[in-house]
Amino acid sequence: MNFLISASMKLKSSLFFLSLVFLLAACADAPKPIAQKAIEQIALVPQPKYLQIGSADPFIWDENTIIYYEPSLKQSANYLQGIFKEVLGSENQVELSSTERQISKAVHLKLSTINANSEAYELKIKADFISVEANSAAGIMRAIQTIRQLMPPAFLSQEKADAWAIPNLHIKDEPSFQHRGMLLDVCRHFFELKTIKKYVDLLALYKMNVLHLHLTEDQGWRIESEAYPKLNSVASWRMEQDGSRYGGYYTKAQLQELVAYAQERHITIIPEIELPGHSQAALAAYPQFSCLGADSTIQVVNDWGVFKEIYCAGNDETFTFLETILEEVMAIFPSEYIHIGGDEAPKYRWENCSKCQARMEAEGLSDEHELQSYFIKRIEAFLNAKGRKLIGWDEILEGGLSPQATVQSWRGIEGGIAAARAQHFAIMSPTSHCYLDYGLERIDLQKIYSFDPIPKELSPEEARYILGAECNMWTEHVPDEDNLDYKVNPRMQGLAEVLWSYPQERNFQDFYDRMQFHYPRLEALAVNYGPETVAASIYSEVYLDSAKVFIGAKRKLEQLDLNVKWKGKEGPWGFDLIESGSLSAQAYKNGSAYGDSVAQNFSFHQALACKAKYLSPFEKWYSAGGKVALVNGTLGSLNFRDGQWQGFSKNDVEVIIDLGQVKLIKRVSSNFYHYNNAWIFRPDWYRVELSNDGENWQLMGVDSPSLDPKQRGQQLINLEVLGKNEARFIKLIAKNVGTVPTWHEAAGADAWIFIDEIIVE
Ligand code: ACM
Ligand code: ZN
Repeated sequence: MNFLISASMKLKSSLFFLSLVFLLAACADAPKPIAQKAIEQIALVPQPKYLQIGSADPFIWDENTIIYYEPSLKQSANYLQGIFKEVLGSENQVELSSTERQISKAVHLKLSTINANSEAYELKIKADFISVEANSAAGIMRAIQTIRQLMPPAFLSQEKADAWAIPNLHIKDEPSFQHRGMLLDVCRHFFELKTIKKYVDLLALYKMNVLHLHLTEDQGWRIESEAYPKLNSVASWRMEQDGSRYGGYYTKAQLQELVAYAQERHITIIPEIELPGHSQAALAAYPQFSCLGADSTIQVVNDWGVFKEIYCAGNDETFTFLETILEEVMAIFPSEYIHIGGDEAPKYRWENCSKCQARMEAEGLSDEHELQSYFIKRIEAFLNAKGRKLIGWDEILEGGLSPQATVQSWRGIEGGIAAARAQHFAIMSPTSHCYLDYGLERIDLQKIYSFDPIPKELSPEEARYILGAECNMWTEHVPDEDNLDYKVNPRMQGLAEVLWSYPQERNFQDFYDRMQFHYPRLEALAVNYGPETVAASIYSEVYLDSAKVFIGAKRKLEQLDLNVKWKGKEGPWGFDLIESGSLSAQAYKNGSAYGDSVAQNFSFHQALACKAKYLSPFEKWYSAGGKVALVNGTLGSLNFRDGQWQGFSKNDVEVIIDLGQVKLIKRVSSNFYHYNNAWIFRPDWYRVELSNDGENWQLMGVDSPSLDPKQRGQQLINLEVLGKNEARFIKLIAKNVGTVPTWHEAAGADAWIFIDEIIVE
């Protein structure tokens, strides 16, 4: 921070045009090929803190360029030599520095005390030399990645040329946050080692520094164990619902190779070994560490959700098992931090296990949250004794935080706030901004770019405990590398800039413009990047005063065109809702379709834009627009995060609609979402009462679903009550199953009801 000049980089300078086509001296006999490589744009992501672009000649890198390095920077010099070898076809000379020889056409890698931040660097590019300075090899690597970004896409796709031009400039740079990461779940779907290496490279290119590798799950165990071989012969494989076998694991040798690859790029790999929950695969292999005991039959899970088979906290052998595994993990991963999960551990088995209950009694623990805290503290003591530190998801705050633990805040930012106030370090990855498995309708590029890792609630002193953030890539719905690329990029780059910069330096439009020059680079790297946003979206506006709903489509960016269809005809972009139907919209950019087509079903009915009074509250995460959600004519889709489903946790739905005047009512109906994998259940029953004064109620009817609550997968069901009654007020009650039933993997948790509308005809 001390050398910080200012956030002087503005759009103009960052998009400075430098068109270089240069010639090389031709040999006497045969003319040498001309390097056709031109630098089109300087568009760095993340934006450097200080950047001055010069107008002098570029540095021409060819086979005669020499890389001088200081002894401790040999690995950096080799890396730099390696990336140019790929494009020159010949190897540059790499030599120990010597002060006497100031040879031109040289690159100098120097250690200096320019800045205390180990990742800060200073880069000077002149016609006759390149100078890279930092106080550690990590800073030198960040500078080398800046050089990679200064090269044209052909450099990244490793086209061959005799020489490459690098523009004249001066950069002084440093990160704002020390922890800049991405989580990759290799359990729900398994990715080859080369895919993980691709991501190590991508993270390095964008100056991220942590790959959080989620290695164990209910659905598969992905790390070799010599001590417990059934973790690989059993726990690494699941029988899919179609009967096929799915899985795999990384050998220790493969993981060591990966760690070395990441170390070379100064990326830390933090392994996550989940406990006490998300451990059903391990328990399928070793049921003796479950509460059900050695004789129980447990399968590796072949479905998505949260599962109740967790490690038994009353069994000392469970801890011996976990400590042995962690020893094996620490032998592979040198990271200071080990992530132990700690999230989403249903307490049902512990509540019903004599060993767990005996442990609580012996340790004076008052509930199962304190038992979880005991579990985590015991593991933390083990890790600390080995010189490592523990990270856990924010559930580790419940029942008492272990003494040194770092908290990863995911269920919002509250966990991070609580940790910082308790003087514990925190890493932010709230579902609101950082979940890359969520669709663009929830988190688009602008949304992730708007993330501020430091909660406003914290004082400057407390804010020092926020180490940084991670974007999380859970892979339930990411079957392969193409999908992975599509979901991660360009949102990961958005977070990379957030974490490198200070809030006052961030400008979405400037970032967006620079990002455009990265797409050809991502293509050169064979990254199947996805869109930045949902280009077209559909909305509704409710006017309670006039009892009208206005519906329409809008485009995300001014440059886009829209084609809007209603009732099969092209039409205006917005209008009053006066009949039921489906509205669809497609955005166009320069005449070509841009982004996916979107569609929304609307229902025109008598309760549209009528006042709704809630006798039980909906949950803020699934408000679907609040008190007008059930009277806005907007129906929910098969995506329960589409913003149309209103969620009630544990509570029944209990709402009174005031039609404003007495009307003839022939049918009252609603759609419900059923997806018990995510603890969302169809109601047990649906009941409608009518009134003329809002006080005296008469039953109109009751409907019950035929759908079995055990039914897996996403389903929509409609419940209805028919009649022929006159009334002004309608009371609807939809009965929540309340608690997730005992047969379910998350038995005992609060159940949800999701409803989209109260349709009155
Ligand atoms: C999480 O998403 N369960 C940490
Ligand atoms: Zn137990």
